[in-house]
Amino acid sequence: MTQLQLQGIRKTFPSAGGIHTAIHDLDLHTEEGEFISLLGPSGCGKTTTLNCVAGFELPDAGSVRVDGQDITHLPPERRDMGMVFQNYALFPHLDVQRNLAFGLEMRGLDKASMTTRIKEVLAMVQLSSMADRFPRQLSGGQQQRVALARALVIEPRLLLLDEPLANLDAVLREEMRIFIRQLQQRVGITTLYVTHDQAEAMVMSDRVAVMMGGKILQFDVPEAIYMRPRSVEVAQFIGRSNLIDGQVESVTGSCASAGSPASARIRTSLGWVDAGTDQPLTTGQSVTVSVRPEAIHFRDDGPYRGTVQSTYFLGSTVEHTVSCTQGQTLLVQTAPAQRVAAGVNVHFEFEPGHAWSIAAAA
Ligand SMILES: Nc1ncnc2c1ncn2[C@@H]1O[C@H](COP(=O)(O)OP(=O)(O)O)[C@@H](O)[C@H]1O
Ligand SMILES: [Mg+2]
Repeated sequence: MTQLQLQGIRKTFPSAGGIHTAIHDLDLHTEEGEFISLLGPSGCGKTTTLNCVAGFELPDAGSVRVDGQDITHLPPERRDMGMVFQNYALFPHLDVQRNLAFGLEMRGLDKASMTTRIKEVLAMVQLSSMADRFPRQLSGGQQQRVALARALVIEPRLLLLDEPLANLDAVLREEMRIFIRQLQQRVGITTLYVTHDQAEAMVMSDRVAVMMGGKILQFDVPEAIYMRPRSVEVAQFIGRSNLIDGQVESVTGSCASAGSPASARIRTSLGWVDAGTDQPLTTGQSVTVSVRPEAIHFRDDGPYRGTVQSTYFLGSTVEHTVSCTQGQTLLVQTAPAQRVAAGVNVHFEFEPGHAWSIAAAA
């Protein structure tokens, strides 16, 4: 298994006004066998980053290392990487087994080993009966499984995927998430996966790198990205969040001592809020408290007050917009049985441990 290290990667492109920096001094280190997603909005630099790893782009600065070996200047065909694209990029005039044979012939494998290896990989992607079909005779999902098989057949050191599910319909997309993740775990291959779909990144990944504007804003396990966002941008991009401005009144615990997470008492327009933090906050500092809609509960003796403005029935949940003092509006998600009608004055609380404070950017 393989480790990937990106160090100080910068990539610029010429643009109308001069040069455009697509990637800013990006660092990313993976562990062996990890499934890592680059997640961010369109244009944030995901594909450019992946292309620097694959060798399709040469960074202006920084290095790409695989197991310590500097491969920044190696051509793509010498990097031993399997690549899967959004549009499958299969050879249309070759049947499935010859699509798979291509990379093996390039490596000079003998006929018998090739046949065995192709059989093995087709079984892995559950396409054993489709070896003689041409790409046009396959559904989108099947074509993407062939693309996956073609990437894996060469036993690459890294698997790279660029929005591979974006062309599939919603139901198939969800099936394929699990399929790819299970296959990756079975093969044990270190994987870099590009997507703008946060649910996809959360479900599939060991760790997610949230990218914006050519930078990684946060790189962590999915739970941490969701529960403990480091910036307002991450809190807003991942799921939905209520953001409440305030000032630090006091801090307890220390983020430096492992096992004793820090908590801060924040003065907000709603009242006092106790919120977790992993940043070194000081008294009087401005922060934003992030609370997810499902972590707010209506309760008659809850510490905060507001008025329900509107409710939306979504089937398994109900969403409420609640207006509070000083123009603060909160989104509250409950089970249908806890639905509160528009116009009702409510008390509510934040689920303990589910308010999180984010220091204002310096
Ligand atoms: N070959 C190129 N020439 C000029 N600009 C590019 C080129 N490739 C990417 N860019 C620009 O770099 C930025 C990042 O692009 P990209 O990595 O494709 O984003 P993503 O994959 O996250 O949507 C965008 O602003 C894009 O327009
Ligand atoms: Mg892209």
